[in-house]
Amino acid sequence: MKKNSYISLLILVTSLFSRISAAQENLIQNISARSIISLNGRWNYIIDPYENGYYDYRREAFDQSKSGTGGYFDDKKQEDKSELLEYDFDHSPTLAVPGDWNSQVEKLDLYEGTIWYRNKFTASPKQGKRYFLYFGAVNYEAHVYLNGKKLGMHKGGFTPFQFDITDRLKAGENSVVVKADNTRKKEEVPTINTDWWNYGGITRDVFIAETPASYISDYQIQLSKGNMGQIEGFIQLSGAEKSQKVTVEIPAAGIKTTVKADTSGRALIKLAVNNLEYWSPESPKLYDVTISTSNDHISDKIGFRSIVTKGKDILLNGKPVFLRGISIHDENPLIAGRARSEGDLRMLLSWAKELNCNFVRLAHYPHNEEMVRLADQMGLMVWAEVPVYWTIAWDNPETYKNAEAQMSTLITRDKNRAAVIVWSVGNETPLSDSRYTFMSNMASHVRSMDNTRLVAAALEVHRKGFEVIVDDSLGEKLDLASFNEYGAWYWGGTPKELSKYHFNIKYNKPVVITEFGGDALAGFHGDEDTRWTEEYQEALYVNQLNMLSKIDGLRGMTPWILADFKSPRRPHPLYQNFYNRKGLYSETGKKKKAFFILKKFYDDTEKKYNIKSYGASK
Ligand code: GCU
Repeated sequence: MKKNSYISLLILVTSLFSRISAAQENLIQNISARSIISLNGRWNYIIDPYENGYYDYRREAFDQSKSGTGGYFDDKKQEDKSELLEYDFDHSPTLAVPGDWNSQVEKLDLYEGTIWYRNKFTASPKQGKRYFLYFGAVNYEAHVYLNGKKLGMHKGGFTPFQFDITDRLKAGENSVVVKADNTRKKEEVPTINTDWWNYGGITRDVFIAETPASYISDYQIQLSKGNMGQIEGFIQLSGAEKSQKVTVEIPAAGIKTTVKADTSGRALIKLAVNNLEYWSPESPKLYDVTISTSNDHISDKIGFRSIVTKGKDILLNGKPVFLRGISIHDENPLIAGRARSEGDLRMLLSWAKELNCNFVRLAHYPHNEEMVRLADQMGLMVWAEVPVYWTIAWDNPETYKNAEAQMSTLITRDKNRAAVIVWSVGNETPLSDSRYTFMSNMASHVRSMDNTRLVAAALEVHRKGFEVIVDDSLGEKLDLASFNEYGAWYWGGTPKELSKYHFNIKYNKPVVITEFGGDALAGFHGDEDTRWTEEYQEALYVNQLNMLSKIDGLRGMTPWILADFKSPRRPHPLYQNFYNRKGLYSETGKKKKAFFILKKFYDDTEKKYNIKSYGASK
């Protein structure tokens, strides 16, 4: 092959590749506010445990072959009776999207592997517009094809991704095929072992968004760190005409400003503000914000609040606050499965509100964007986390890249949500030098992307007798002394014995207990020393709250957990039946006795802090 045709081929391949992978990187901000074609609905599916639709019998990937064809992504139809075709999406059953496959088809309840999804849709792309195919989340590894051509691959079961399909979208019928694989692997994030159900599939919204050729791809508009009198941020333009004038309007705050984006499409804003109504759980004020250029505009609802720590205090808008929280999994307990709709999400947050919470820990992975927007509206502060959970492959650079990418996407997606006050880099990760390096790098990466929020993790603790010692060196890198403790459950001892414990916490930082709790089977009653009874869980809460209240730096908690949830690690036939039963609500929505203990504690704490902040109970 002549030298220059070899080079042009090389350029072609690399640009193709860079276009394929790059398309995922620049997540478009607030994309669901664009004009969209929803692809939610029934998708045909093929179960493929041997990945027969992806690899040939020599385990060579079809989409890497010379022709780039041969796999199920071709979405072929038998054209003549003698043709051999061993799959047929049209006659294949369907699954609801968004939705995990486990809760929809009984034989898929414990299925881990590949399932192919196919959706046919009609489009009429317009000249001068751009089109993006967007996925809210696919668990875990997704290979995406449009009209038989590969768009790219995405890893991470809880973060959104999109592909630029402008020059791939056809007028008329299109076929999108997704290979979704939820196989657990040691080097992935999360790794093999977790305490939640490995729901697979296209679990969140799918749509095609339309933008002008030059469009507003990203923006951050928040209060400056530690300065409640200044709004600061950026607007990023993408497409042909990057260097344009950009206008930001916040009518209700009397703000209208125009700035010029530079040649890379970046425009910075810094605005002095006064008389802003700050966002807080008591009054979750969201302002209508519009950003516009000569040929594009986008509107959003944004709240403004400041969150800092001062010694052992957490200050929200300059006032001490106690984080009255609860931990939540992204699961609808009533119909066990990933939350499927805004209604499911609102139900979970309303249950937290009934507990008189002002804070939720969205464990242990990025929840649906809609969940965070609802928290913004409903007045619930949010702890957001990536699934760096238990024993990750700390020494594997690919694992770190994956974890950091999930963190970047989470921050990119939710950075304009006032509700989000904490970015968490992980949960219960065992001490080691490589873990320390991994987690420290994650923490500094978060700060490099967003310095306006707190950075934390569920730190490791250890015990000497009844002394609980919190001196995990990772704590130096973080803003909170936050940790999980399971007195009277995994630590043994009965609830009454909790009073013997005392805490030795190395850090002069706010203490947030990110988990405590115990299992109770709703409706199972007995004395308070009998495990699995509501009385045991109730006594555990009474004594835990007494014990924790003695910690002078205690400034918040997110007990484990709002509702019973499915876990493959919980097989006890009488008490668990594959449910973790530490919920304060059962999987049927019944409040357990411990619910009322925590609610009373939060009502009292709220009064105490109102007096602290406002000199009188509100
Ligand atoms: C752990 C973990 C949770 C788990 C809980 C439990 O600390 O962080 O994910 O579900 O404890 O064992 O119930």
